[in-house]
Amino acid sequence: MKNIAVLGSTGSIGTSTLSLCDSFPDRFRPVALAAGQNLEVALAQTLRWGPELVSVATEELAAAFSTRLREAGHTGTEVVFGTAGTVRAATLPAVDFVVSAIVGVAGLEATYAAVLAGKTVGLANKECLVAAGDLLIAAARQHQVALLPIDSEHNAIHQCLRGGRAEEVRQIWLTASGGPFRNTPLADFASITPAQALKHPTWVMGQRITIDSATMLNKGLEVIEACRLFSLAPSKVRVTIHPQSTIHSLVEFIDGSILAQISVTDMRLPILYALCWPDRLDATPAPGLAFDLAALSHLDFAPPDLDRFPCLRLAYEAASTPSHCIALNAADEVAVEAFLKGRIPFLGIPRTIEQVLCLTPAASPASMTEVLAADREAREFAAETIART
Ligand SMILES: NC(=O)c1ccc[n+]([C@@H]2O[C@H](COP(=O)([O-])OP(=O)(O)OC[C@H]3O[C@@H](n4cnc5c(N)ncnc54)[C@H](OP(=O)(O)O)[C@@H]3O)[C@@H](O)[C@H]2O)c1
Repeated sequence: MKNIAVLGSTGSIGTSTLSLCDSFPDRFRPVALAAGQNLEVALAQTLRWGPELVSVATEELAAAFSTRLREAGHTGTEVVFGTAGTVRAATLPAVDFVVSAIVGVAGLEATYAAVLAGKTVGLANKECLVAAGDLLIAAARQHQVALLPIDSEHNAIHQCLRGGRAEEVRQIWLTASGGPFRNTPLADFASITPAQALKHPTWVMGQRITIDSATMLNKGLEVIEACRLFSLAPSKVRVTIHPQSTIHSLVEFIDGSILAQISVTDMRLPILYALCWPDRLDATPAPGLAFDLAALSHLDFAPPDLDRFPCLRLAYEAASTPSHCIALNAADEVAVEAFLKGRIPFLGIPRTIEQVLCLTPAASPASMTEVLAADREAREFAAETIART
């Protein structure tokens, strides 16, 4: 039995993780949950699993949540809140495995704490590696902790890399669906609405990652994530548009062989892989994960268009400079929120990021405190930039 902490339990990845706990009740047990604001879903999860500890976003929400638990006659779950609460959830002594699936830099401190506490981490939250990749990887090495990617592309690369040695890799290919605007003329980008951008063609995900997929900033964050996770230069991390999202990514070796990972577009599969690594589990108790090869008619690939998707270009430009990676992510978090609230247009997202990057000096933060300070500063730059537009 593996005891799991699910950080971001009420989100898309969190609920997929808990559905695997339902499918494999004798293998995985959620003992700690960290939610944000969604008390309804957190309550149902707590009553279902009876975790030792639940964290919610704020003190007020924690008080309301405790009342709801008492009214439901539930006892035995400690309720905590805020960043300190997510850190408690990630480091609880009973926890063997931490699923890091809080969206954004809000998930960074708990993920770092999990690594320092020697917990195995399944990493969905790519922002952790983008903002503090060097620190996280160094801590994972020092504490001999496995950082297992849940992001489907990196999970695919992780699987393919089992087919050769690191020094035998020529380059890797991250596949991208291209998002909802893959074929939209550039002239129409100015009038794209949040509702249009939230319609992803192949994946059902949280709002921020869905907008990031529409701008392709998500793929840019994934390029940086791959550089950190697999110790590769940005030039060795390539992107190819693959609208079917059937191949989740590929590794090209020096002899010309290419290994690809194919599966259904269902995040339960990479989560299950991470939870079970280095073993594999028979997925039959979780229906829907088998891939129907007979239904596969064709696979398309095309290079990304960096004129229509400048966020991807900005990510490549930022990839080698840690402070620029922090700024890229922070500016995007602020800009996406502003776009969703109707305060800036779709093209305002890359514009905001580019302006924040111009204001950010090149630096390599040496501690988590410096990372968080750089993140705060970039958010301020982004908010000022948006206020001026
Ligand atoms: N969804 C996917 O298919 C997918 C694939 C690859 C990678 N990822 C990555 O996985 C992460 C989660 O994505 P998602 O799609 O699951 O997002 P999501 O559906 O928006 O869920 C985000 C989760 O984070 C929680 N949260 C937000 N702010 C918080 C805070 N300040 N403190 C504590 N919890 C907080 C939310 O809580 P409430 O809802 O309760 O407020 C929710 O549980 C992202 O980094 C994303 O890039 C996702």
